[in-house]
Amino acid sequence: MKKLLLFVLSVVMVLGVVSIAGAADVKIGFLVKQPEEAWFQDEWRYAEEAGEDYGFEVIKIGTTDGEKVLSAIDNLAAQGAQGFIICTPDVKLGPAIKARADMQGLKFMSVDDRFVGSDEQPMEEVHHMGISAYNIGKLVGKTLVEQMNEMGWDYDEVGYLEMTYNQLPTIAERTNGATDVLLEKGFPEANRYESPMKTLDTEGSFNAANITITKHSDVDKWIIAGGNDSSVIGAVRALEGQGFGADQVIGIGINGSNFAINEFEKNEPTGFYASVKLSARQHGYETAELMYKWIAEGEEPPKVTWTAGTLMHRGNYEELMD
Ligand code: GLA
Repeated sequence: MKKLLLFVLSVVMVLGVVSIAGAADVKIGFLVKQPEEAWFQDEWRYAEEAGEDYGFEVIKIGTTDGEKVLSAIDNLAAQGAQGFIICTPDVKLGPAIKARADMQGLKFMSVDDRFVGSDEQPMEEVHHMGISAYNIGKLVGKTLVEQMNEMGWDYDEVGYLEMTYNQLPTIAERTNGATDVLLEKGFPEANRYESPMKTLDTEGSFNAANITITKHSDVDKWIIAGGNDSSVIGAVRALEGQGFGADQVIGIGINGSNFAINEFEKNEPTGFYASVKLSARQHGYETAELMYKWIAEGEEPPKVTWTAGTLMHRGNYEELMD
């Protein structure tokens, strides 16, 4: 009898230890498409903060193409991770990512860039956190109008560098929002110069802007809108290269991460007037927290969350910095 009791007790203890170890052993992958971009570094930093608060491990992986994404999912499974958050390098990879994650038994959710299915529609079945892209674009447009008015510019004499990257829906919605407001407020359609970017980075923006600026060498004042800070900073650099000073350029980005802050910290103002600061904390900390609760407590995250933005410029960036 005594032996049996001892045996039962030891089984209970072993099970107890196993289940405690189980809870402490949550591993969550955080996969981003552009690990060199300040925005994604911020997301990682905040995800790690959530990991410290809740006691889980964050596995950060830069997944710049489809192959890297699929092998990262396999690696996560091999390391014993239970789930991951991803900003995919291509939204059309959505179905392939879902298939691989399901096969490996991993929970996952997308952040920033929403998966698109084979029917070209957003994959609503995948949990997602993204920005309210169109409204944030409208804030860019509204601020461009206010700044042109403040400078006393005649709209007819201004060129609009619309830095587009339409293959990514969240970016297309942002530039569309900015353009719609400009046109509504009387900015002439004829002065709108769409400048399609081949890559969504500073270099892509620099190259696309240079083509437009060269084609319209008669324009001497420019406004710039783009889907994120890199899309605008490249164009500002291209204008500087062609001799345009800060008094001839109004560029407004989106993200408000270190790329924008670097511009505001320069001694002399540049053509990069402002950025809509997004909540990297929500996108990094909260997604990781939601994933943790899903894994550890079985609490399913909301299907979709849209986050907001605040205008950040030289005058207020220090207060807005995290
Ligand atoms: C996209 C952009 C990033 C950032 C996020 C915000 O992924 O490429 O720069 O703006 O959206 O959701």
